[in-house]
Amino acid sequence: MEKLEKAIAKCHSLDELEKIRLLVFGKKGYFTEAFANLKTLQGEEKKQVASTLNETKEKFTTLLAEKKEVLERGKIDEVMQKDAVDVALFSTTLGAGALHPVMETMNKIIDYFVGMNFSIEEGPLVEDDFHNFEALNLPKHHPARDMQDTFYFDDGMLLRTHTSPVQVRTMLSQKPPIRMICPGSVFRRDFDLTHTPMFHQVEGLVVDEVGKVSFANLKFILEDFLKHMFGDVTVRFRPSFFPFTEPSAEVDISCIFCKGEGCRVCSHTGWLEVLGCGVVDSNVFKAVGYENVSGYAFGLGVERFAMLLHQIPDLRSLFEGDLRLLEQFR
Ligand code: PHE
Repeated sequence: MEKLEKAIAKCHSLDELEKIRLLVFGKKGYFTEAFANLKTLQGEEKKQVASTLNETKEKFTTLLAEKKEVLERGKIDEVMQKDAVDVALFSTTLGAGALHPVMETMNKIIDYFVGMNFSIEEGPLVEDDFHNFEALNLPKHHPARDMQDTFYFDDGMLLRTHTSPVQVRTMLSQKPPIRMICPGSVFRRDFDLTHTPMFHQVEGLVVDEVGKVSFANLKFILEDFLKHMFGDVTVRFRPSFFPFTEPSAEVDISCIFCKGEGCRVCSHTGWLEVLGCGVVDSNVFKAVGYENVSGYAFGLGVERFAMLLHQIPDLRSLFEGDLRLLEQFR
């Protein structure tokens, strides 16, 4: 028995321990035999041997259980060590996703205006003639409708050509003052290097009592916004025409590629056109039932901003979903 006790103490593996257990408790093991031999004894002697045997049996049960626990814990440690994952290792199989450059640009634009206390409004993509055109001082057969080649449905509904109908809906459902932007997708029948049939706009509208909103306010916020987007650029306002604003302007920034020297991107003018804006035409306020108010509005194409910020030459490549292109924007 002493030998077995020593063997347990020295034992290094669970397999080895099992062999010892069989020697002690197995069918042909020590105790099976010892208890069988009890039959040959009698009386007081039998009692004594039996009691010693029981004690020894208990002792070995404990010894084996304790050793088993120690060995098992060692085994767990070993497995843990072998299977340990180095979380700091660089993964070769899993790639992290990223925002599409158009959405990333959209977010940057929205961030600026939210910081300037503008609310975000949304509206339907399928619009009616009133919200997309009529209320914006674009009556039927007005030549300016040609500026926006429209997708029509058979029932006279249409895919919105700009996000301006959201401004109309907001004015119809809220009282001034209004200070809002409307980001979203818009649709026009156009397809070339710089046009896709679906693109994104962010338009803005500010309306308050007469005298509280001026062209100067518009000029300040757009200049500040364009510096937020493009850094240290010169901003220029050029007289233009939109049916829903009067006066109207188009806004240019000094070319961010040649710093105004003249290059291919700016068609050697030194300027890049980036925005349309103006003071809201009184006919628009009439259409939504607003009185004694003034306001300004502006609109921009998000894809154009993304193209300029990332120097993407062909707008269409933004919508092809080619990972070789998109992965460069991670
Ligand atoms: N709605 C115009 C467009 O889509 C953009 C614009 C908005 C221009 C507001 C001026 C003022 O072309």
